[in-house]
Amino acid sequence: MENIEFTEIGTKNRDFLLQGLAWAADWRSAATDTSPPGDLLYIVEGWTERPGDFGVLAEDTRTGTLLGVVWLRYWQEDYHSYGYISQDIPELGIAVAPGYRGLGLGRTLLKMAQQHMLKKALTGSRLPERSRIPEQGTAGENDGYGIAASISLSVETENHVARSLYESAGFRIHEKRSGDLIMQWKPGWKLHTMKPADIPETLRLWKRCEGIVLYEDAEDSREELTRFLARNPELCLTARLDGPGQTGEGAVIAAAITGWDGRRFYVHHLGVHPGFRRLGTARAILQRILQLGAERSVRKTHLFVLDSNTDARRFYHHLGWQRRDDVLLFSAECGDPPV
Ligand SMILES: CC(C)(COP(=O)(O)OP(=O)(O)OC[C@H]1O[C@@H](n2cnc3c(N)ncnc32)[C@H](O)[C@@H]1OP(=O)(O)O)[C@@H](O)C(=O)NCCC(=O)NCCS
Repeated sequence: MENIEFTEIGTKNRDFLLQGLAWAADWRSAATDTSPPGDLLYIVEGWTERPGDFGVLAEDTRTGTLLGVVWLRYWQEDYHSYGYISQDIPELGIAVAPGYRGLGLGRTLLKMAQQHMLKKALTGSRLPERSRIPEQGTAGENDGYGIAASISLSVETENHVARSLYESAGFRIHEKRSGDLIMQWKPGWKLHTMKPADIPETLRLWKRCEGIVLYEDAEDSREELTRFLARNPELCLTARLDGPGQTGEGAVIAAAITGWDGRRFYVHHLGVHPGFRRLGTARAILQRILQLGAERSVRKTHLFVLDSNTDARRFYHHLGWQRRDDVLLFSAECGDPPV
């Protein structure tokens, strides 16, 4: 489609959101100039006042006609719209003008919303803590939420066209709720073996992960990590964003290195980019390591967790790893044996 201009929706052009909301609510109708029902107005009320509000409109530059809108908005457990999953996941609304459907505009708008979330998650953007909705309370003390690369939405079960568009854009059913499907998009990723060229990017990732202690002048210098990879070429893994043409395609979002001393495997530095947690990358890395161990007749894999890292402790427990209370870790400097 030619002569289309995409503009971010701010305070000046927020009335377009009302039109988009009306089209989305009455998706069977062919009428173009409609208003949303009053009980749905809260969905776009106070647009731009809430952290994380993001919307794009598509306009025909020759006629000034509104062709479509997409928007993302965060909600709270005690105050939310239909497609709510959690307060860390914005809900998407989308609508294309009745005469312009089936031309690829919806797909383009959807992709813009996904790219937006990927960009925010990759750059480590944050939203203020506690209440993103001003009238629902004041901001808390800490520095807020990291933005996660995910989007939720609700679609009426009978709206097959929209549903298949969402599915082809990577949304999957999260839940069924009386006549609606709640769908969620999470970015795709793939496991890769880590190469020496990946080390700088991996180090940047590890630095974003609380709970990982790095010795960049020693074991975690580029030279020593290169030596580690050379000794354990198949046991050092990354998860990279997958999705042709997507923002951040190929970016390392998770990594761990594993050493084999001929007897046991030892996993070090398992870390997932804060914007890409709960995607299953950490589980997949550990599963792959255990499988590689089994292939080499290694009976056990160990890893070290800081006593203070309660999140990681819960995570390993959830995955069924056994916490050892019968062993203590003793260390000595090489070349300087204790007397
Ligand atoms: C711990 C960490 C690696 C988990 O990464 P992740 O991306 O959330 O893990 P996954 O998505 O693979 O989660 C796999 C499962 O563990 C669960 N899980 C993840 N974090 C959890 C936590 N803190 N508590 C309980 N369960 C957790 C997930 O819900 C998922 O469960 P399911 O498959 O049954 O649905 C990540 O939080 C991290 O990088 N933390 C900082 C670095 C760190 O502490 N590393 C460990 C050093 S020893």
